[in-house]
Amino acid sequence: MMNSVFIAQPKVGKDKMRSWFEVDKQGLAQILERKGKEFVLFELVQNAWDEPGVTKVSVTLEYRGRNKALLVVEDDSPEGFKDLSHAFTLFAESAKKANPEQRGRFNFGEKLVLAISDEVTIRTTKGGIRFDDAGRHSLRARQDIGSRIECLLRMREAECNAIEPQVRKLISPARITTIFNGTPLEPRALLEQFSVTLPTEVASADGFLRRAQRETMIQLFVLMPGETATLYEMGIPVVETGDKYHYDIGQKVPLTLDRENVPPGFLRQVRVAVFNRMHGQLAPEDVNSEWAETAIASPDCAAEAVQSYVSGRFGEKRVSFDPSDPEANKLAVSKGYTVVHGGMMSAGAWLNAKSASAILPAGQVTPSAKVWTGEDDPDAAIFRDWIPESKWTNGMREVTTFARRVAEKVLLRAITVNFCATPHHLAAASYGPGGELVFNKFRLGADWFERGITEDVVQLVIHEFGHEYSPDHLSSEYHHALCCIGAKLYALARRGEM
Ligand SMILES: Nc1ncnc2c1ncn2[C@@H]1O[C@H](COP(=O)(O)OP(=O)(O)OP(=O)(O)O)[C@@H](O)[C@H]1O
Ligand SMILES: [Mg+2]
Repeated sequence: MMNSVFIAQPKVGKDKMRSWFEVDKQGLAQILERKGKEFVLFELVQNAWDEPGVTKVSVTLEYRGRNKALLVVEDDSPEGFKDLSHAFTLFAESAKKANPEQRGRFNFGEKLVLAISDEVTIRTTKGGIRFDDAGRHSLRARQDIGSRIECLLRMREAECNAIEPQVRKLISPARITTIFNGTPLEPRALLEQFSVTLPTEVASADGFLRRAQRETMIQLFVLMPGETATLYEMGIPVVETGDKYHYDIGQKVPLTLDRENVPPGFLRQVRVAVFNRMHGQLAPEDVNSEWAETAIASPDCAAEAVQSYVSGRFGEKRVSFDPSDPEANKLAVSKGYTVVHGGMMSAGAWLNAKSASAILPAGQVTPSAKVWTGEDDPDAAIFRDWIPESKWTNGMREVTTFARRVAEKVLLRAITVNFCATPHHLAAASYGPGGELVFNKFRLGADWFERGITEDVVQLVIHEFGHEYSPDHLSSEYHHALCCIGAKLYALARRGEM
């Protein structure tokens, strides 16, 4: 075959002008060498799928010995090639460019197939062309319908055998039967489809391909055994994602020139859309997967999807670590909650979890008993339930005297004692660092104060005075304080000082 087959022709009317540049077929073939040979087949199949009215595409690949294989791709499109010169004119204006729901865009793909073939014959409704050692020849015979493209490829037997599993990855459009070596591609079970607005590439009136946002369908397919999840453009595999499902995008996707990848931002958008749709079906292992991680960190992740994710990952009983209430974190653990620390999710995931209120701080879910901090406590302003001293009973005075004395002897400080009767205050009593002990008659009951200095009274006073040393019931400081107070009380009682 002639070495240079593609000639860029300036528009010259009838007069032949020398072309600006030529393409070295050998050089192009060498560049394509690193691609898997299945790309040849994908290029021809996508061209056939692109034709309006196609119902059947048949592909055969046969190893012919001596490192040669014959590939034939045949379709039944009513019109066939519109312009046969497009078979060999690289980058000619492709009508498909302006239609986001056709795959073709550069008038390029089929020329790559020519580049790596030794011989190619195209027969279609407009006639035919043969490319061989001697160059390019027109063929007179026409087909009634459709096109048939035969390529003699340089291919080792092993390469030839490796192609079938690649071909079986294709997702044939529902209206088209695609057959490989006599066996139709197995229909795939559609799991879900939904519409999403995604970037696409579409030519505007001036012929330039531009990015545009357009609503399209995404179809999700379950992986067949041994498959790796892949992103497809209208049934043609583009790039493996390793996600949970195959994604088939119903319009042109933004592609690199070699058609081997999409920009990372595009994949992210697809993953978020899928996640927002499928979050109700997350399996436990999904929440640790890259696609879910990507989606959960995106600002476009839906609030319900965020809820599903954190439930899947941390369970229904979950709180975030709350530095403002150390005891609350421990209470959460003791009540079977998972305490989620900062480093366990990405910054983006935390933003989403917070705005969806999907993980509340431990201080809100399992708060520690509030310590009364006196008049500067924010609750104090609304607090109207104090019992004035004039209304104290003898029992209340006796408890007051006892508490003051213990404070003086054990804590070595003076304290104030107050009484209230309120449903508003959290606990039966409280003690704050300002030395203010408060009893809540609403919780303790009136009788509690009238039985003298019972063990109950002593217990409560020890409990509250423990807070002189720590507000956190579950800290070792608090535990140690209780032991010391108990021991000191014993020593005082033995000496007859209490
Ligand atoms: N099976 C076919 N039936 C009808 N026309 C075809 C067929 N295969 C190719 N063509 C025509 O040949 C042209 C060139 O195909 P080629 O694959 O090179 O470019 P494209 O599909 O337009 O764009 P891309 O570079 O994205 O593949 C197509 O635009 C189409 O008009
Ligand atoms: Mg093409």
